[in-house]
Amino acid sequence: MQGMSLPRRIGMLTAALALAGAAFAQEPVLEIDVGANHRQVTRAELLANPAVRTIAVTDDVSYHRPMRYRALPWSALLHTADPVTGDVQFTADDGFVANIPAAQLNGAGQAWLAIEPAKAPWPALKAGGPSAGPFYLVWLTPAKAAISPEQWPYQIAKIASAAPLELRYPQLLPKTGDDAAQRGLHVYTANCASCHQLNGAGDATIGPDLNRPHSPTEYFQEDYLRKLVRDPASVRNWGQRVMPGFSTAVLSDAELNDLLAYLRQMAKQRP
Ligand code: HEC
Repeated sequence: MQGMSLPRRIGMLTAALALAGAAFAQEPVLEIDVGANHRQVTRAELLANPAVRTIAVTDDVSYHRPMRYRALPWSALLHTADPVTGDVQFTADDGFVANIPAAQLNGAGQAWLAIEPAKAPWPALKAGGPSAGPFYLVWLTPAKAAISPEQWPYQIAKIASAAPLELRYPQLLPKTGDDAAQRGLHVYTANCASCHQLNGAGDATIGPDLNRPHSPTEYFQEDYLRKLVRDPASVRNWGQRVMPGFSTAVLSDAELNDLLAYLRQMAKQRP
């Protein structure tokens, strides 16, 4: 460096800082706030965990094909032996929020946190867009635990404990003894609340509120509402459409009936 002019030195220093900054920005961080676990971990730290394995996901919900990942079993992600209860909330970069019961995460569906390696990036979810990384919750045997596609959050930024949605937002509770509406509440929280609010209640605002100012059970004919939930593009379609379809494999006809019973009940008790 001796003899180098000051402006040139400053120039080199700036370039070095910019490089360091770029390297830092490329290293994604996951925020964990579950039970007694409060920490921020980098991708490299997660990948260095000795419990990381290569797993094969036969029917990947987001990529619609078999995938292989470097991944950490859910049980190895948390440092404590204390059982985590209630819900665990996965917040994605785009505002998608999945609230998944801890019992399901610890259960027969076999949840793993897939981690996208810097040197082996995953494919884009949609042409030209980002991948499901850097952190993505996948399941090895989802059918064993009735895991819905909305319970595969991707682009995860934060994982936190939360009380179940309907306890945090009592305005989601149907005030009726009708069993169908009560069951429908759980169909709603598992499949719809990751994007929608209802009565202003919920964690996500990707889609419109499903009861305020009006319920879709009021402004859609029932057969079109059923079609819309099954396959939104069959009712109306455009390039930026976001709402996914729910086939009978994901949402049985009985569950759709319960969901509509719930939405009709909520239309009657709008605050
Ligand atoms: C991944 C996010 C996502 C999920 C999950 C989702 N939706 Fe949607 N939904 C949207 C978005 C966004 C729109 C607005 C239209 C669009 O962009 O596709 C929408 C639109 C709708 C509409 C039309 C509302 C209107 O006034 O036009 C209804 C009804 C609806 N969703 C019901 C549901 C139900 C019921 C579920 C659960 C079974 C559900 N949605 C799950 C994102 C989602």
